[in-house]
Amino acid sequence: MNFQLQKYKRSVLLSRYVKLLERGELVAFPTETVYGLGADAWNPSAIQKVFEQKGRPADNPLIVHISNRTMVDSFAQTVPPAAEKLMTHFWPGPLTLIFDKKPEVLDILTGGLDTVAIRWPRHPLSQELIAQAGALVAPSANSSGKPSPTKPKHVKEDFGKKFPVIAAGETDIGLESTVLDVSSEPFRIYRPGAISAEQISKVAGKKVERASQPSANTEARSPGTKYTHYSPDATVQWLKDDLDSQETLYLLHTQYDNLKAENIVHYKGNFREMAHELFDRFRQADFHGFHTVLIEPFSAEQLQKPLVRALQNRISKAVS
Ligand code: TXA
Ligand code: MG
Repeated sequence: MNFQLQKYKRSVLLSRYVKLLERGELVAFPTETVYGLGADAWNPSAIQKVFEQKGRPADNPLIVHISNRTMVDSFAQTVPPAAEKLMTHFWPGPLTLIFDKKPEVLDILTGGLDTVAIRWPRHPLSQELIAQAGALVAPSANSSGKPSPTKPKHVKEDFGKKFPVIAAGETDIGLESTVLDVSSEPFRIYRPGAISAEQISKVAGKKVERASQPSANTEARSPGTKYTHYSPDATVQWLKDDLDSQETLYLLHTQYDNLKAENIVHYKGNFREMAHELFDRFRQADFHGFHTVLIEPFSAEQLQKPLVRALQNRISKAVS
């Protein structure tokens, strides 16, 4: 099939969802990170529904999803030159940028902050949907506190038939986007993701502060960081010496070749695969009634890798 025809078929396929979004309804859709719960970014009652469905605290702002550079200017008051470089280099992709917002951007969207988060996702279906429906807010399509959805069935587990899901299999990366504040200097990462501080720093030509331990200042500027996330009902812990717990799911990545236990997943240094699967494994642990998920800690050397730092961040949140 040629490209134009594929595009035509996609647009016919999507028109039903576009109509729902235009009417202020919600539609879940795939991105390259996790599934998002989409709503019209200019419709306050549609956005209200997103918060209600997820059980999300009103002070935790949403990310606006766009499908071209021009759309940024409807939301962002100022775009610093270094942020322009980041957009050119990393978009479309798993990087969310926080700008000073235009006055007309809805308060309910930003949780009352004077900044707005924007991302241009890479998944072709998300791009086509946004191109037709306009800018969409899209938090991860999970109930607040549950692991983010990387498969359509995860969305159905949390929400049943409350809204439709545009199903397109498993998401590629499996962890949410890097969130970077470019509204003030130094640029600061609030949530680590597949794109690292080093990569950003190189392209922006500036120092970038890494996500630190939770601090009052970070919480004030990025309220989402203070909420527990990503936790299954099973207790998630870092693997220590007690290796023989019952009803335990083990997630290992390098060592422990001699560990004799029943339920072991061994990633053998493949952190991409581990990131891709982590949230699904959390959900499986609950599905199969495990009491505990024990995860092999990362070494200082492994923590040099961006994806390992993102894994560490998500697992730490599930542990605490
Ligand atoms: O990969 C992703 O980013 C996924 C997909 C669907 O695009 N979306 C996602 O959205 O993870 P959500 O709502 O689950 O997480 C958004 C994060 C939250 O931690 C929120 O607090 C932060 O971004 N955020 C949003 N707007 C912000 C702002 N103006 N200032 C600081 N943090 C903000
Ligand atoms: Mg989320």
